[in-house]
Amino acid sequence: MLESKAGIMLIAGLAFFGLAFVSNAVVPALMYQDLPELTAEQLVNGNLRYQFEDLARRYPEPFEKAYGKPPEEVAAREKWFNQKTADTLRLGRKLYVGEACWHCHSQFVRPVSNEEQRFGPVSKSIEYQNELQRPVMFGTRRVGPDLSREGGRRSNDWQAVHLFKPTSLSEGSPMPEYPWFFDGSPDKPNARGLAVLTYIQWLGSWLESYPYYEQYQPTPLPAEIPSSKTE
Ligand code: HEC
Repeated sequence: MLESKAGIMLIAGLAFFGLAFVSNAVVPALMYQDLPELTAEQLVNGNLRYQFEDLARRYPEPFEKAYGKPPEEVAAREKWFNQKTADTLRLGRKLYVGEACWHCHSQFVRPVSNEEQRFGPVSKSIEYQNELQRPVMFGTRRVGPDLSREGGRRSNDWQAVHLFKPTSLSEGSPMPEYPWFFDGSPDKPNARGLAVLTYIQWLGSWLESYPYYEQYQPTPLPAEIPSSKTE
């Protein structure tokens, strides 16, 4: 076998395949085997709570319609908000899968082609060690941009209008419209719309140093959620 060029190539090819398998599958599996898989509840941090509360402020009526009223007592309200945020994340992920957003959007910033400059910090294995990445949402194509650092990059308002009608913000966008996330107009997101918005704002919210977030502290909202709208 070693007499012919083809034989050497074949052996080299198999060896490189083996090496890639070891370095890309076996080594990470061994490195992370003892890391606990985070639940949606554990993924709720200050950045995400900030965004979820922002939804409550921006869309008080749709928010109440989707979630009811938060409890009056401060500690109970805190717990309520954290649980609602976690449940909403789970629903958001389901919709992201169901609506096939992953057909057009990846969630993986590769360490090549200056992707860091386009999308933000390169992805690390640990970021996929959680409930919302089962199965992982790497995606297979990029018709639209990578979304792993989308959270905090744009406001909830922007995201809502974009989901309602992408072309109104991005001329010629091939992204489909999602009117069924809304009860009529982009300022009336329904439970599904609020969930997709929360999911989008979650993406990247876990990074310690992140251009769009600075570890917001959750702000216990009053029982009557004030609207930020100046009417
Ligand atoms: C047919 C492909 C396609 C599908 C399906 C799709 N998108 Fe997009 N998306 C795009 C393209 C292309 C862009 C870039 C142009 C634009 O902003 O509309 C984009 C842009 C975005 C952006 C803005 C990124 C930024 O900051 O500029 C977000 C957020 C987004 N999509 C989320 C979603 C979500 C959530 C879904 C599923 C509910 C989805 N997309 C489904 C193609 C798609």
